[in-house]
Amino acid sequence: MFEDMDHSGDGGIHGQLLQNNGFQGDNPGLTAYKSIGNVTIAQDMDKPVSDAIHSSLQVSVVSGATGSVGFANTGYDGVPVMKTTYFCEFWMLGDYAGSITLQLVGSSSGKVFASHNLTVTSHSANFTHHQTSFDSSASSNADNEWRLLFDSALVSNGSLNFGLVQLFPPTYMNRSNGLRDDVATFVDQIKPSFLRFPGGNNLEGLEIDSRWQWNLTIGPVVDRPGRESDWFYPNTDALGLDEYLWWCEDMNMEPVLAVWDGKSYGGILNGTDLQPYVDDIMNELEYLLGPTNSTYGSLRAQNGRTAPWSVNYIEIGNEDDLTGGCDTYPQRFTQIYDSIHGSYPNLTLIASTITNSCLPSDPPSGVIYDYHYYREPDALVEMFNLWDNQPRDKPVMVGEYGCRNTTATDGTFWTSVLCSCSEAVHMIGLERNSDVVQMAAYAPLLQHFGYTQWSPTMFGFDSSPDSLTPGTSYYVQELFSTNRGSTILPVDTTADFGPLYWVASKNDTAYIVKLANYGAHEQTVHINVPNTTTGVLQRFMGSEYATNQPTKIKVKPHSKSVSSSGGNFTVHLEAWGVAVLSVSTTSAAAALRASGGVVVVAWLCVFVQLF
Ligand code: AHR
Repeated sequence: MFEDMDHSGDGGIHGQLLQNNGFQGDNPGLTAYKSIGNVTIAQDMDKPVSDAIHSSLQVSVVSGATGSVGFANTGYDGVPVMKTTYFCEFWMLGDYAGSITLQLVGSSSGKVFASHNLTVTSHSANFTHHQTSFDSSASSNADNEWRLLFDSALVSNGSLNFGLVQLFPPTYMNRSNGLRDDVATFVDQIKPSFLRFPGGNNLEGLEIDSRWQWNLTIGPVVDRPGRESDWFYPNTDALGLDEYLWWCEDMNMEPVLAVWDGKSYGGILNGTDLQPYVDDIMNELEYLLGPTNSTYGSLRAQNGRTAPWSVNYIEIGNEDDLTGGCDTYPQRFTQIYDSIHGSYPNLTLIASTITNSCLPSDPPSGVIYDYHYYREPDALVEMFNLWDNQPRDKPVMVGEYGCRNTTATDGTFWTSVLCSCSEAVHMIGLERNSDVVQMAAYAPLLQHFGYTQWSPTMFGFDSSPDSLTPGTSYYVQELFSTNRGSTILPVDTTADFGPLYWVASKNDTAYIVKLANYGAHEQTVHINVPNTTTGVLQRFMGSEYATNQPTKIKVKPHSKSVSSSGGNFTVHLEAWGVAVLSVSTTSAAAALRASGGVVVVAWLCVFVQLF
């Protein structure tokens, strides 16, 4: 689940590294800008870069100045300076013909990691666009800035204006306006299968007018106004609707797109007042799915995507059981459902709540119900059986869940081995019910450590090198996600759940047994997977409160090959340990062949014995 919070988008997974480049949000001021040399700088609202980007940076040369002058942008708590090639673009207004120097420089050290000249011709009549690439050496820390310098002697009218400065390191899949390659690769490693976006709260808007508006997040970035987000900082919306969908496509994820359903924190629209916004959802769907000869389908093609996007899941709102949404959701849900379903009957629609009293009394079949929970470890384990008695005709998406080791809503803390083990127990419960719990998403996904608002997240980083830090929960997600069965198998055991929990499954290549030991004592588990010989055992372990803190990765999973005698495997599970045993089905087939048996594996039953 992704939304821009903790600067997970701007300054996070989105590749653009300079902050406040479009002076977006309610009160941007000169955040992240510094003057360099004998100049003064100011936000200039009289010189907008475009209809969307309302301000530019005015750089005024102080009389008598000589040599190179300009400005710096300090990024999001520094600029990550790596040994790589950067792409840079900016807009410029004012009479100037000569050299511009772009640099990456240590803010305190003054050390120059990159310095690149380009020759530009700029006029005072209108903004001109400039772009270039340059190589850099690496900085050992985050204390860096990007600089743009010009020759003060060539500025005849005393000032120049610069707008929408952008700096990108290599992007994931080399997409323009893409994701940071290093950060996106970290997400890709856990093999996610769907992405729920753009929120979360950040869909809703602190006010109706500041809701996430799909049509303001598409097309050239210079035409995107951005917004003051629900997480109290500006969003540039450079990570917009199409960028989310490229992200999904590049990682082979199913998009789960939430549409605005009338609820904001500052007011709720209902009935005829809501209808224009329902019409807008239909425009959004035409943009995503319509042919290129439709109004919005042609706009999509103009924005670089000819084929319709593969979108199959639409969520109607976010958490409509909360923040005053419940009373009107039955009517709002039905109004939006009828409109979407009438035109797109093949789309699966998701209600943003599972609470009956907030839903229509007789909801249509085929709807999935979204439920969110953040709990302390014991409480999450107590929810192991939550879905055992869920009516099988009422499918569920757990659109957000995670362990928090406190009831406090604020503050920074780190997910621990105990917390992640409780998530594993809970996920075993989800997997055992995966006929009805069709999707589950840990949340929130990531944070920039310099801007933490909510933690834990699955991983985080800052602007220093090698700062990508997986939380302990990242590894549990990775273990479960990269070992997926397609069929749940029966487990034959006399043991009861607790403190050990398990689930067995199979796919085309493996039998998989997932185990979690939510207890303070080691457990030895004997597992018999008939007629198998070899497999891989992955174990996650650490002391109860061990955490991975920024750049200090103490807890990691371990993996080893295992072999069995007669299909008997032994797994030692540490206190608060999680393990995944993956046994090759080809070894099962070979063992059966060797014994002259008939290869029938579908009935295979896993025996678990605890000692
Ligand atoms: O994931 C953090 C927040 O938690 C989401 O924005 C919201 O949906 C939930 O309350």
